[in-house]
Order: sequence, then C-alpha cells, then structure tokens
Amino acid sequence: MILHRSLGPIDTTAVGLGEMPLTLEDNLGKDTGIDTIHAALDAGCRHIDTAWAYYCSGGEEQTGEKLVRAALETWKGPRDEITVATKVGHFRNFTNGVPTWDVDGRPERLIHDAKQSAQALGVDSIDLLYFHRPDPKVPYAESIEAIRQLLDAGVARTAGISNASIEQIDIARSILGNRLIAVQNQYSPVYRDSADTLAYTARLGLAFVCWSPLGGYRKVKDEHRFDAFRDVAAELGVSYQQVVLAWELSLGEHVFVIPGAHRPATILDSLKAGQLELSETQLSRLGD
Ligand SMILES: NC(=O)c1ccc[n+]([C@@H]2O[C@H](COP(=O)([O-])OP(=O)(O)OC[C@H]3O[C@@H](n4cnc5c(N)ncnc54)[C@H](OP(=O)(O)O)[C@@H]3O)[C@@H](O)[C@H]2O)c1
Repeated sequence: MILHRSLGPIDTTAVGLGEMPLTLEDNLGKDTGIDTIHAALDAGCRHIDTAWAYYCSGGEEQTGEKLVRAALETWKGPRDEITVATKVGHFRNFTNGVPTWDVDGRPERLIHDAKQSAQALGVDSIDLLYFHRPDPKVPYAESIEAIRQLLDAGVARTAGISNASIEQIDIARSILGNRLIAVQNQYSPVYRDSADTLAYTARLGLAFVCWSPLGGYRKVKDEHRFDAFRDVAAELGVSYQQVVLAWELSLGEHVFVIPGAHRPATILDSLKAGQLELSETQLSRLGD
C-alpha cells in the first residue's frame, strides 16, 4: 500500500510527482510527459506538483499546467482522488540569452495568474495554490493578501507558500489562518539550509514539501554527499534515490517529497520510497 499522509485536510500520497522536468527546456516531449504522469497515477501517486511558470523561456506559457490537465483528462482512473498543486509568482525570462526565472509578486499579477492557472488546469477551484517565491520589490504581506483574496473568491481551496523563511511563515499564517496548509522549500542531502523551517512547520502542524528532494540540477562537487545513501542502497538492493526520499520522509509525519522525472521509469522507482523502511542504524548513517 502506497504511503498516504495528511496535507492539511487533504489525504494524499507522501511521494508526489514534480511536473517541472516534463515541460522545461530539456523535456522529452508531450507524449512522454503524458506517459510519465499516467505511469505515476497508475502506480498509485495521488499528488502532482506544477506551476504557472513551468514552461520554456520564450515559449507558450503554462505548458506544465496544460500537460497535467491533458494527462488527467485522458487517464482512466479516479480523477477525484488526485490533488494538483500549482504556484503563482514566477515567470520565465532570459538573462544574456540564457533561460532564467523572474518573480512578480504584485497582488494584481498573482490574482490574474491564479485565475489563468485554474483555467489551464480545467478546474473551478485549485486544490492547493502556493505563492511561489517572495518578490523583494513587494512587501510579503501584500502578496499573501492576494492569496487570501483568491481563497475568499474560491479560486483556490487551500494555500501554501514556497521558498519561505520562518518570518514569512508567520506573516502568511497571520493572514491566511488555517487555510495555509503547506510550506514548500528546497530540501535534500545537498541542501539542508531550510532545516529550520522543516522543524518549525512540524511545530505548527503544517505540511513541509521538499522541492528538488534529490538535489535537482546539482553540481558535480555535491556528489560525495550521496555516498552514505549509496552505501545503504547497495545493502538494500534499491536505488540511492529511494533511500534519499525515504530518509526525507523519516524526518517527520508532516514531510512530503515531490521528485521530478523526465520519464516513467524514474518516477516509478521514486514512488517505492514511501514503502522503504530504513532501520535506526541506517538512518543514523545518513545524518539528521
Ligand atoms: N517551489 C520551487 O521553487 C521549486 C523549485 C524547483 C523545483 N520544484 C518542484 O520540485 C520538483 C522536483 O525537483 P527537480 O525536478 O528540480 O529535482 P529532483 O526531484 O531533485 O531531481 C529530479 C531528477 O532526478 C532524477 N530522478 C528522479 N527519481 C529518480 C530515481 N528514482 N532514480 C534515478 N533518477 C531519478 C530525474 O531523472 P530523469 O531526468 O532521468 O527522469 C530528474 O533528472 C520539481 O519537479 C518541481 O515540481 C519547486
């Protein structure tokens, strides 16, 4: 039985599918994208993470959300079991000809984009809407106020914040109350700077969703940080990625992981992490 956890009021799988690689620059095309989402859902995954900004710089916007919709509309399983989370506040750009990410946290832009997200996803109300990343040009409370208005208007049912500090979590909670259900921050063996928010969300009863849980596009010099995970994986006869995800899930009942995948095989392997039991001795070798 695949591991389920409570994401606020939503019962869903602890391992979700991070949609981003399916629609960024190095994606393998729409058919593989749909196959990957279908494979994840067929294997029991019930949580998909996407964003308004998951598209190629300079190309059609919102292709990530549109891909999720196309996959769900052609999937034969129970659509109502699937939680789709999306995010607003980012858009793609270029810097010196290289694809990049920019932020726009102005309330009017967030409200506009969230309505577009609901439309692209083909839903009346978004299951979980995150404010993607703080915009240094806009006071945080003003951006969060826009998320509150979107909840009040029914554009989204629950809210999350991403790339948030403890101070920003407090601001968001003061404005959104218990409609704030999740904090999505980067967390992996190569990035533990957000450990303070992982602990803080546990105390508050909020979900903590690890983004780039496998290290994302990491640098070659980071590889040694996976040595202990590879050793434990070799003993258990599983991939080290499963061990990484299982270790993250062991950090608290409030923790979720959303590994990305370009192809069915990788998400199918990652989904097994929810059932992987690591002993106390193995966990102690992996660090806190
Ligand atoms: N909130 C934010 O600001 C933010 C920022 C970044 C990402 N995210 C979210 O986090 C999700 C995950 O992050 P990510 O995609 O950057 O990185 P990631 O999950 O750390 O790593 C994805 C990479 O790991 C590989 N992989 C996944 N499972 C594997 C397995 N079991 N065995 C071997 N290789 C495996 C994939 O390989 P293949 O390419 O071969 O499939 C892919 O290249 C994104 O999709 C997005 O939804 C959020």
